Amino acid sequence: MTTATETPTEAPKTIYLKDYERPAYAFERVNLDFELGEATTTVTSTIRVRPANDANGKSLFLNGDESVELAAIEVDGAKFTTYERTGKGITLRALPTEAFDLRVTTTIKPQENTALEGLYKSSGNFCTQCEAEGFRRITFYQDRPDVMSIFTTRITADKTKYPVLLGNGNLVDSGDLEGGKHFTVWEDPWAKPCYLFALVAGDLGMVEDKFKTMTGKEVTLRIFTETHNLDKCAHAMTSLIKSMKWDEDTYGLEYDLELFNIVAVDDFNMGAMENKSLNIFNSRLVLATPQSATDADYAAIEGVVAHEYFHNYTGNRVTCRDWFQLSLKEGLTVYRDQEFSADMNSRGVKRIGDVSRLRMAQFAQDAGPMAHPIRPESYIKMDNFYTVTVYEKGAEVVRMYETLLGKDGFRKGMDLYFERHDGQAVTTEDFFAAMCDANGADLSTFKPWYSQAGTPRVTANGSYDAAAKTFTLECSQVVPKTPGQDSKVPVLCPIAVGLVGPDGADMNLTIDGKSHGTTAVLRFDQASATYTFTGVDAKPVPSILRNFSAPVRLTTNLTQDDLLFLMANDSDAFNRWEAGQTLLRNLCLDLIKGGEQSFKMNDAITAAMRTILSGAKAADADKAFIARAMMVPSEGELSDMLEEGTVDPAAVHAARDFVMKTLATELRAELEATAQANSAAVYSNEPADRAARSLKNACIGYLSYLDAPEIAAMTYERYVAADNMTDKIAALSALSGKDCDERIKAIDAFYAEWSHDPLVMNKWLSIQAASSLPNNLANVRALAAGSAFDIKNPNKVYSLIGGFCASPTNFHAIDGSGYEFLADIVLELDDLNGQVASRMVSAFTRWRKFEPTRASAMKAQLERIAAKTGLSENVFEIVSKSLE
Ligand code: ARG
Ligand code: ZN
Repeated sequence: MTTATETPTEAPKTIYLKDYERPAYAFERVNLDFELGEATTTVTSTIRVRPANDANGKSLFLNGDESVELAAIEVDGAKFTTYERTGKGITLRALPTEAFDLRVTTTIKPQENTALEGLYKSSGNFCTQCEAEGFRRITFYQDRPDVMSIFTTRITADKTKYPVLLGNGNLVDSGDLEGGKHFTVWEDPWAKPCYLFALVAGDLGMVEDKFKTMTGKEVTLRIFTETHNLDKCAHAMTSLIKSMKWDEDTYGLEYDLELFNIVAVDDFNMGAMENKSLNIFNSRLVLATPQSATDADYAAIEGVVAHEYFHNYTGNRVTCRDWFQLSLKEGLTVYRDQEFSADMNSRGVKRIGDVSRLRMAQFAQDAGPMAHPIRPESYIKMDNFYTVTVYEKGAEVVRMYETLLGKDGFRKGMDLYFERHDGQAVTTEDFFAAMCDANGADLSTFKPWYSQAGTPRVTANGSYDAAAKTFTLECSQVVPKTPGQDSKVPVLCPIAVGLVGPDGADMNLTIDGKSHGTTAVLRFDQASATYTFTGVDAKPVPSILRNFSAPVRLTTNLTQDDLLFLMANDSDAFNRWEAGQTLLRNLCLDLIKGGEQSFKMNDAITAAMRTILSGAKAADADKAFIARAMMVPSEGELSDMLEEGTVDPAAVHAARDFVMKTLATELRAELEATAQANSAAVYSNEPADRAARSLKNACIGYLSYLDAPEIAAMTYERYVAADNMTDKIAALSALSGKDCDERIKAIDAFYAEWSHDPLVMNKWLSIQAASSLPNNLANVRALAAGSAFDIKNPNKVYSLIGGFCASPTNFHAIDGSGYEFLADIVLELDDLNGQVASRMVSAFTRWRKFEPTRASAMKAQLERIAAKTGLSENVFEIVSKSLE
């Protein structure tokens, strides 16, 4: 045995689900003592350790980052020496066979922590981010979610600099100390894994409210921010209160402590974090006023505040056994926040937005080198698996249980899940079992959703037999190959189907003599199957995959006339929208494939769009839906549907541009009239006003495609007159691609008005960065060198660099200059913050999708990055998998 102190750097190692082993040592209680200092912080961790019955003197591995300095290890009060330190932690040997106290003392330097994981400083305040594996940057610990413990935290710091000291759970002690210091002690009665630990120390102001729970307990709700932002917390607070009520009403889940804190910080890698009773948020997801935040920001805040609150049960009370199970909490909690937002707002519009995002980002991921099942089988760096697949596809998988079992059946499953697993760290298998057992259901063919990557391709072809009065739907499915998964099995897809009669009304459905109401949920789990509806008196148009009942790519034999009919008549809002999207998608794809000489508008589509727009005049018009239905599928969504090795972003851009321009030209009068009719004199945040705003701004977006000076002038006037950020951003975006004085004037005016507010400046950065104006890279370089940018702040990077990657013409410039710029940034970021660097480098992941010139230019940059010595594991994993 040695007392090694050297910490050799280890080569990136792959972790496998199949290697999971239960921990041999339980941590029953943990006492953490933080001495927060200006140069270093000392952490003393005292853990009550209990060996499992079968521990048999096994070694105990404690994770610990290389940056953590180990000051002392004691066992039952005596210095302990039989351990070895490696790059990833320490291995303790020859431990007592009965329960013992383990004390680990470490020193860390939060001031130097640019990775923003573990304990770090943001705007002068201390804060933490421990999920997934940040706790190991604080102290040596079994940093794994199946080690659940009761935490007590004592925090000591300078009282003037850090008047607020927050921990998880209840405040049980506090007081002043010598030397201008003070302390607090926090006790969290609920056992939790260390990834839910949090600490905040700073000079923060607070707004407070109360919530009375369903059993009459009073909960104190507090939001902490820098004092100058206290006037921007009202919406987050309202959202929190609504979430608490919704979880009681919908699932009978009541908050379990007397205090719930939210802290907003400016430097944060992700959106927000559900630490027990001390949620820490990226400030962009807390702070909002109508002047500084858009309607989209308001919606995001509502959804994320709810998401983090809902984790208190789905994530915290029942947590994950290991990180391969991440979707157990994230897929489920995204599903819950989606449903919450649907209940608070327009359900159909919410679903359309969620599906658009899924298709644009998740379908693309599922078809590329980073494709992984919602329960991955392996990873190098867990942070790389906080993905649209685990989150959004995971939410779709949860939604399918609801579709298959019904609302009540789903609730029964949830109840059983909590009954069985409260206080435990469990697996997606446990969730599956609870859903099945509560309903006596056999869903065995549903299981591959957890283990298979790739988006199933479903074909559903209908035919009508007038003589037999039957309608037959022939379905087939294929799950495409993905890296490491060459053979796949069919998977249970709930296909919700309606038959719309010639009068536009839903027919009553009968299959095999069984009545299904007006929407049948087909349990399609074979490679192919045929469903026959009987008693169909007239030829219907089938509405297939209503409400997007399964996350699949659907092909049907619906004709253009069928789609136009569904667009006008389908009772399912999602499919009414989808019919129009299918028409537009097909049109754009034809134009892309045919090239510029083929550019010709489809008049039936123009007419249908005119009809949609004219519907806005109706007294009961769903304007948010109309705004959505007018949208032409994004370039990302269109590119995703093209063959590997063929995508020319300039060509995709040109085709979509042509469609937008033609529609704008043809519908100009209607667009102008609709924009006018929906321009409110004064801002209001009522749902109807938000809907009108979205419609008006959709019209302005369309009109910006016209090369008419009076449009630029009108848009600039709107910019100047706008009394809220939604309208300002809409006008600025509409001008951002136009080479005109008004664009420059608006950009300058925005800067003059908002340069003091970093969150608002993020919008200014991203709109300029995403512009498709020729040679915009020079402008982006200038912005990167300017005072509004800071490479150490993730929001700034996501806005400017992420914004630039969204520009089809400039990021994808044929000379490779955009790719080189991104690689330069990634290499710089890699030394500062591996998580942010790896998110940025992901723009190269799908290089094989592009035509040869761009593909090889992107590949060259990936190789250049791969060649860097000391590359972070985060970037290493994405780059090496992309090149495989
Ligand atoms: N659990 C957080 C959420 O609600 C996300 C934390 C992600 N952290 C990370 N390092 N990847 O969704
Ligand atoms: Zn989450």
